[in-house]
Amino acid sequence: MKITSAEFVTSAVKPPHYPAGELPEVALAGRSNVGKSSLLNKLINRKRLARTSNTPGRTRLINFFLVNGIFHLVDLPGYGYARVPVGERDSWRKMIESYLKTRPNLKGVLLLVDSRHPPTAMDLQMYGWLKFRGLPAAVAATKADKLSRSRLLQSLRVIRAELALAEGDALIPFSAETGQGREELLEVINR
Ligand code: GTP
Ligand code: MG
Repeated sequence: MKITSAEFVTSAVKPPHYPAGELPEVALAGRSNVGKSSLLNKLINRKRLARTSNTPGRTRLINFFLVNGIFHLVDLPGYGYARVPVGERDSWRKMIESYLKTRPNLKGVLLLVDSRHPPTAMDLQMYGWLKFRGLPAAVAATKADKLSRSRLLQSLRVIRAELALAEGDALIPFSAETGQGREELLEVINR
């Protein structure tokens, strides 16, 4: 798939704020700071369309981006950030949950995990839940540029085992720095 256009559509907290219409959507999920917004920017070749930050908890709303005029990429707030006050964490969780549970447009989820670390308990929970709901899911291992080739391969094996990925389940090493994995991800999203 070639990206010909991308634009920000809207930010939403609750279902009534989601964009109207029936365009299909692919959402980016993963813990805070894993690189969701950076991955989105790299996919659509725009440096700063989605806001990124060194500080976890940058994305606090559900952000919808229209791509090629035919589908939405949806940048979700991250989960699992300990330094966010409990009340706020709870409201984020509800925001993400109600999006994943109620959005008929949602056709698939890209789950991002950090290639440098084994998946967290919340990553396992999220992946299990996506499978349980029958939502097509693919996994991207982010920040692949931070590992040597052999460490990356080792890490991919651990991620595959911990998440109990089946043979055919996509696990794509990705780097927003180098663009590694961009083509594969675009193919998975297209599917
Ligand atoms: P929240 O919105 O807080 O949930 O975070 P996020 O998942 O959107 O992460 P974001 O894209 O803001 O990236 C977090 C930090 O990781 C930033 O400092 C990015 O520059 C850095 N980062 C993201 N992807 C990569 C990558 O592929 N390689 C490297 N080296 N750094 C990355
Ligand atoms: Mg973000």
